[in-house]
Amino acid sequence: MTTTAAKPRFDKGLANTIASESAMSWIDGQEGVLEYVGIDIDALARNSTFEETVFLLWRRKLPTAGELEAFSALIRGEYALPEPMWDIIRGVPADAGPMHAVRTLVSALALFDPEADDPSLEANERKGIRLLARTPSLIANFDRHRNGRDFIKPDKSLDVASSFLAMLNGERPTETMAKALDVCLILHADHGFNASTFAGLVTISTLSDMYSAVTTAIGTLKGPLHGGANEAVMHLLDEIGGIDKVEPFIRAKLDRKEKVMGFGHRVYKAYDPRATYLKTFAKKLAEDTGNQGLYEMSNRIEQIMHEAVGSKGIHPNVDFYSATTYYSIGLAIDLFTPMFVMSRIAGWVGHCIEQLSDNRLIRPRCEYIGPHQQPYVPIADR
Ligand code: CMC
Repeated sequence: MTTTAAKPRFDKGLANTIASESAMSWIDGQEGVLEYVGIDIDALARNSTFEETVFLLWRRKLPTAGELEAFSALIRGEYALPEPMWDIIRGVPADAGPMHAVRTLVSALALFDPEADDPSLEANERKGIRLLARTPSLIANFDRHRNGRDFIKPDKSLDVASSFLAMLNGERPTETMAKALDVCLILHADHGFNASTFAGLVTISTLSDMYSAVTTAIGTLKGPLHGGANEAVMHLLDEIGGIDKVEPFIRAKLDRKEKVMGFGHRVYKAYDPRATYLKTFAKKLAEDTGNQGLYEMSNRIEQIMHEAVGSKGIHPNVDFYSATTYYSIGLAIDLFTPMFVMSRIAGWVGHCIEQLSDNRLIRPRCEYIGPHQQPYVPIADR
């Protein structure tokens, strides 16, 4: 018996394909709106915390005070790295790129999790908590290792952002710095079927495991068209070198048909609402930390881009002002994308669990454009 399948539709880059349903985040690209479970991102950035936002994304409701306390305790209870991980961090070459290090170290966490291959919902939730809780220690301590400093263990009395900064810098962060990082974690936590989330979903849809899915997602986030753009923005600012050079530099780049990192988005054709918030935030933080020059250069780039390509719907995206924000927090440039990892784990895990609740293998087609009916020519005759 033959069955007739629906004719596949060609959609390059899957730009117009809805691959599945989700109740986590909603984007209105025309109006520039982002909501997590129906709550505007601006309200969350102003009022929430990263831990509360993760609860919202995973449980689809804001927690009560008691629920938040229990959830935070659950995360902090999983901060500690499995002991063998410290030697594995030591084994990573000090000159490795942090995204290579993070991808490798997150993958290695699976080796010490007896539940790594337990596909139950409960085990997947526990693995999600562990991934969220342990990745900051991996990033901070890889940075310490590459700088020849002793390891520092996570501090259970601190939230994710503060504990990370305390490990990274060897001292408790100021409230302003901890808040700045916490806000960045909120803003980056989820964003529909972005490339890394989708890549993770492809992996989990084969009924692989959570660690494999998150490792896939990290590799995907690394690219400069996605999470790697925040580092590329900082390199761009460095390369331009001064506010008076912005205009000729950017116009020459556009004339060469090169992309300006931190601008444009597959979904937003209006201003990315995360960038709206970060712009104000970056300005204040840059002023407080003596980095006004960077903010002013960024603002000037935005003006030039607006004049040149604003009419095409190209505006700053989340990565543009997060670069100045991270720089003002004092982070090394190559740690910017790992900050995105720390946050987006919330989205990756949430979407993977959602996918598994009604799984279907994700497997699109390609349009074959090669030849047919070719003879096999023996090697001696080629
Ligand atoms: N600078 C200059 N021109 C641009 C830019 C840019 N950053 N982005 C898009 N364009 C132009 C592009 O040249 C094209 O013009 P034309 O129609 O004349 O050929 C048009 O806009 C459409 O661009 P596209 O590349 O076909 O759009 P896309 O939806 O495939 O790509 C994007 C989206 C984010 C990959 C792209 O805008 C880009 O490469 N931006 C720079 C990298 C970046 O900032 N990425 C971070 C994205 S947001 C956060 C995240 O996901 O991490």
